[in-house]
Amino acid sequence: MKQQEAKRRRQRTTGSRLPAAGKPWWRAPMLAVAVVVLAAVAVLSVRQYWGANGAEPAAGREGGVLIGGPFSLTDQDGRAVTDADFRGRWMLVYFGFTFCPDVCPTSLNRNSEALDLLGDKADAIVPVLITIDPQRDTPEKLKDYVHFFHPRTVGLTGTPEQIAAVAREYRVFYVRAEHGAPDQYLMDHSTFTYLVGPDGKFVQFFRHDTPPQEMAERIKALL
Ligand code: NI
Repeated sequence: MKQQEAKRRRQRTTGSRLPAAGKPWWRAPMLAVAVVVLAAVAVLSVRQYWGANGAEPAAGREGGVLIGGPFSLTDQDGRAVTDADFRGRWMLVYFGFTFCPDVCPTSLNRNSEALDLLGDKADAIVPVLITIDPQRDTPEKLKDYVHFFHPRTVGLTGTPEQIAAVAREYRVFYVRAEHGAPDQYLMDHSTFTYLVGPDGKFVQFFRHDTPPQEMAERIKALL
């Protein structure tokens, strides 16, 4: 009799994962463990997102959000470059692609105009185009393209993984948009230009519609 009673009690307690009515939630072990695990995951995610662990020295903040970071890419001459190669110089970074019909050329022209307005001061700044279309934008393709804009523009490409990593660090969005023939696809992408300081840290960004005069003035105030 006693054994049967114990067995029934076991079945009752293990039969349902929800706490019995009137029983505090923290008395249900599975639920309590789940709550603690979820809370830990949430705290770690927040720390990661806001960079509270300080593990990303080559980055800056915008409204509390960490932007920028280290990268490992290939330039238009086929050389391997990292963010460290730009230390001591400012970078004006734009993410785009050479096949872009209008937005990228407009942004890159605007950036060149802003640099021209800065005169000799612009010598301290390296204009950089990082492609978000590494499949078509080989170093050769970038080399043919970047000289249409500022003559000192550095074009950077990489493996899809390397591009995804640097885009993630700069919070850059991009997605392939089919457009007729398979090799005629376009890329939807964010259109900010990022100013990175000589220490490799992000300083500020410029919207696509910021005029070159305003951009030059804002940069001049920082140099
Ligand atoms: Ni574009």
